[in-house]
Amino acid sequence: MPEDQDPLNARIVEKQLFHETLGVFRIAYEGEGPKKDFEPGQFANLALMPPPEALEAQARAEAEGDAPQRRRPGRVRLVRRAYSIASPPSEKRWLEFYIVAVDEGALTPRLFDLNVGDRLFMDTKIKGHFTIKDVPDGKNLVTVATGTGLAPFLSMYKQYKGTPGRFEKFVFIHGVRVEEDLGYREQLEQFADDDPRVVYLPAVSRAPDDSPYTGYRGRVTTMFSDGTYADAIGQPLNPETDHVFLCGNPAMIDQLEAELVERDGFVAQSPRQKDGNLHFERYW
Ligand SMILES: Cc1cc2nc3c(=O)[nH]c(=O)nc-3n(C[C@H](O)[C@H](O)[C@H](O)COP(=O)(O)OP(=O)(O)OC[C@H]3O[C@@H](n4cnc5c(N)ncnc54)[C@H](O)[C@@H]3O)c2cc1C
Ligand SMILES: NC(=O)c1ccc[n+]([C@@H]2O[C@H](COP(=O)([O-])OP(=O)(O)OC[C@H]3O[C@@H](n4cnc5c(N)ncnc54)[C@H](OP(=O)(O)O)[C@@H]3O)[C@@H](O)[C@H]2O)c1
Repeated sequence: MPEDQDPLNARIVEKQLFHETLGVFRIAYEGEGPKKDFEPGQFANLALMPPPEALEAQARAEAEGDAPQRRRPGRVRLVRRAYSIASPPSEKRWLEFYIVAVDEGALTPRLFDLNVGDRLFMDTKIKGHFTIKDVPDGKNLVTVATGTGLAPFLSMYKQYKGTPGRFEKFVFIHGVRVEEDLGYREQLEQFADDDPRVVYLPAVSRAPDDSPYTGYRGRVTTMFSDGTYADAIGQPLNPETDHVFLCGNPAMIDQLEAELVERDGFVAQSPRQKDGNLHFERYW
């Protein structure tokens, strides 16, 4: 990007923190947004200019003739990462994101320093195959998230909750370390109160023994092996009726993918296996 061009095209219009390092960002394009609606479950890239010290190092390297040859002088590479969209496509005012600040991360600590009105880059190309596009109507959607992996499922539920027959049950399983990390908890409890098709199952893996937390203690993976899931839903997982969506920590996804395929007979979705009933989005 030549120095005289401004790559930033969006602004933070709302920032709500669950705690210091976990929050919801609503971001609006300043000019034109994407040409067509996205699918719930897709992601957008957010980006910031490199920090001043990186820009100075680049300028020094260019002056000394040490810069990578494939980069034009003055061209800046933004610090760019993917984020699942938590809002439904019907929300036109902004895109909502659920973001955790990763210790020592290149982008997220700087994102958390931004405030309402601050500018950043939000790609107008929205991408991703982690959607319910190929899921037939009338299935149970069983979503399993760790941490901010909850985001795409909020978009899916909000978009399809009013479409009769699109799904039978919508199960939100949300695994976090401590209770304070249960972002969107009140909203999810409200969904479950208002809609008999919704089940919300939080799992807290590191709740201190003396904490007042009364829900499930453990990882989302053990909910399926110790009977918790079947008791809560009234039936075990069933590949005939269920589509399972896994999102977030790749170690959780690897473990559940292996178990659901081997133990329960699920089939992983892939570009060649479009009718698979096990879907995943690895965040790293
Ligand atoms: C398709 C896709 C969608 C994504 N959607 C989201 C989202 O909605 N919300 C979100 O917070 N992140 C999301 N991520 C992760 C995001 O792209 C970044 O990797 C993350 O924000 C860290 O960026 P960073 O530059 O601060 O850290 P980096 O300097 O890039 O460090 C990356 C390291 O941080 C850890 N890490 C990355 N993401 C997470 C995470 N979400 N939770 C815990 N540890 C993590 C991993 O150890 C990883 O190796 C998504 C990733 C992909 C591929
Ligand atoms: N500084 C801090 O104290 C602090 C605190 C929280 C977060 N953070 C930052 O935030 C980032 C994100 O943390 P996060 O807590 O949102 O995400 P996370 O580390 O992915 O943890 C979320 C949930 O996933 C579980 N999990 C991890 N591996 C799993 C596996 N193989 N199978 C099943 N479940 C598994 C965790 O259980 P376990 O508890 O058993 O691992 C936890 O319940 C971290 O990388 C860190 O940078 C920092």
